[in-house]
Amino acid sequence: MGDFAHVFETPPPGAAADWTIPQNWEAYTEVEHQTWVSLYERQMKVLPGRACDAFMKGLDQLDLHGQGIPDFARINEALEKLTGWTVVAVPGLVPDDVFFDHLANRRFPAGQFIRLPDQLDYIQEPDVFHDVFGHVPMLCDPVFADYMQAYGQGGARAQSLGMLKNLARLYWYTVEFGLMETPEGLRIYGAGIVSSKTESIFCLEDPSPNRLGFDLERVMRTLYRIDDFQQVYFVIPSLEALLEETTRDFGGVYERLKGTEDLPIETVLPTDKVYTRGTQAYAAAGGRF
Ligand code: PHE
Ligand code: FE
Repeated sequence: MGDFAHVFETPPPGAAADWTIPQNWEAYTEVEHQTWVSLYERQMKVLPGRACDAFMKGLDQLDLHGQGIPDFARINEALEKLTGWTVVAVPGLVPDDVFFDHLANRRFPAGQFIRLPDQLDYIQEPDVFHDVFGHVPMLCDPVFADYMQAYGQGGARAQSLGMLKNLARLYWYTVEFGLMETPEGLRIYGAGIVSSKTESIFCLEDPSPNRLGFDLERVMRTLYRIDDFQQVYFVIPSLEALLEETTRDFGGVYERLKGTEDLPIETVLPTDKVYTRGTQAYAAAGGRF
């Protein structure tokens, strides 16, 4: 996504024109596999009862348990049968247009590298654990699978209309940091949360953040922060509702957005459906974990 400075403007040496590289699974070291296992085990202590059913089911369907960094070829055999998606390896963040083109073709670009053992809690650039453990289980869900493809198609359009900043907020507050309402309570489906132990707990249990009902235009107006826990989470009623809400044509939405101001992160509007009005104590104390 366009949130970070890209190191490369063109595919780096060894990458194809679409920025993909071989995963080179055989080359991962024991230490690297162990980093995955440590991250995996931490998450499995916190996710049951916090992550949504679709995510937990995806982990099972792809057999993403234990064993170290998964071989993308093995994942793809199962994933392609389920929803037609595949995972492709890339060196790191890719330009927006390349990213959108992959999504529009049901390919999820995943970082090939894994973080260092002293970066279990936080890394700025998405690695294979964030991308595969965080994102790929949800791609087993047929509705979410359609949403991600539609997002890729919508990305190219937003780019040509100069509305990428607004569309990126939709991605941020759904794909990365989305919560869902279920009969059992709020559940996580966002990849940025399910790949983080501390935020998996914070997003549901801490009194600090606002938890507000998802509203498309409202979300597209809302600023976000990339380097700390979120100050607001948006709650969708269901994946079906998210897909339905975003399948309509954004032309009119974009027109209206051009005449409105961006909203500061901590804003609560009279029109918001408020699940939790946060204290914002975490952010007020300076944040950063
Ligand atoms: N419906 C959007 C448009 O008309 C495309 C889109 C779909 C964007 C789903 C995001 C998610 O541009
Ligand atoms: Fe991500």
